[in-house]
Amino acid sequence: MDQRALVQGASRGIGLAFVKELRRRNPDGTVFATCREPAAAAELTGLADSDTGIRPVQLDATDDRSVRRAAESIAAGTERLDLLINVAGLLHEGSHLRPERRLSEVDRSALQRVFDLNAFGPLLVARHFEPLLRAGEQPRFAALSARVGSIGDNRLGGWYAYRMSKAALNMGLRTLAIEWARGSRRITTIALHPGTVATDLSAPFRRNGDARRTVFSPETAAGQLLDVLDGIGPDDTGGFFAWDGARIPW
Ligand SMILES: NC(=O)c1ccc[n+]([C@@H]2O[C@H](COP(=O)([O-])OP(=O)(O)OC[C@H]3O[C@@H](n4cnc5c(N)ncnc54)[C@H](OP(=O)(O)O)[C@@H]3O)[C@@H](O)[C@H]2O)c1
Repeated sequence: MDQRALVQGASRGIGLAFVKELRRRNPDGTVFATCREPAAAAELTGLADSDTGIRPVQLDATDDRSVRRAAESIAAGTERLDLLINVAGLLHEGSHLRPERRLSEVDRSALQRVFDLNAFGPLLVARHFEPLLRAGEQPRFAALSARVGSIGDNRLGGWYAYRMSKAALNMGLRTLAIEWARGSRRITTIALHPGTVATDLSAPFRRNGDARRTVFSPETAAGQLLDVLDGIGPDDTGGFFAWDGARIPW
């Protein structure tokens, strides 16, 4: 099948690896690869220059006009989307936004910024891309959450904004899964945890020589998560799955 997929947050890290792996698995398909600034995403645009199956599109998940414009522009090039993966996420930004170690480090503007991308972004993407997904072949909608967003699994504390934003994302996805399980054109909706992956996001927190923790390359992570996505069906909608297919408690 000429799968039509969209990777939201495709400029680097796990998102870029998804684009490459989707092209490898579906040579007849098309991947719409969205990011905030396609012109600045050198590796993505380089790939797209030599592969017409990759279509970079501007989309800032914290800007509703940008999300709507991206949906309109993609709808002009395809009548359906079979797979949409929200990858964009934020843990730290510059010197002003760091994961909090304790309550005294909690800051309202940081909370708002992290929630805006991690929790609100995928839900508003869902809103604007729903018509294309409804027209898809066994459509699937996924977002990269994180195990640290699990309330039941929280034993260490810290990282207030990131943990809370991923817990809110999970609730949004679960609620969406219930709405999208109704009617005749159902959309399977899941949350995914990629494991620890060697990207810019995790770089400051990966301890050198920490042999107890497995760190995946972005390519391995993307392949594992696509295997999970290939293995799920409508009965799995509303689930939270780790990279190995195991369910994670909410
Ligand atoms: N890496 C890990 O160990 C790990 C573990 C658990 C969960 N995750 C989750 O996996 C996802 C991907 O993480 P990663 O490690 O690949 O992160 P990354 O390397 O930091 O990449 C983040 C991506 O998000 C994009 N982005 C940032 N702000 C955006 C916005 N406003 N609108 C659209 N895109 C935006 C970035 O694009 P720009 O180039 O425009 O900045 C980039 O493509 C995240 O949701 C993260 O929470 C990662």
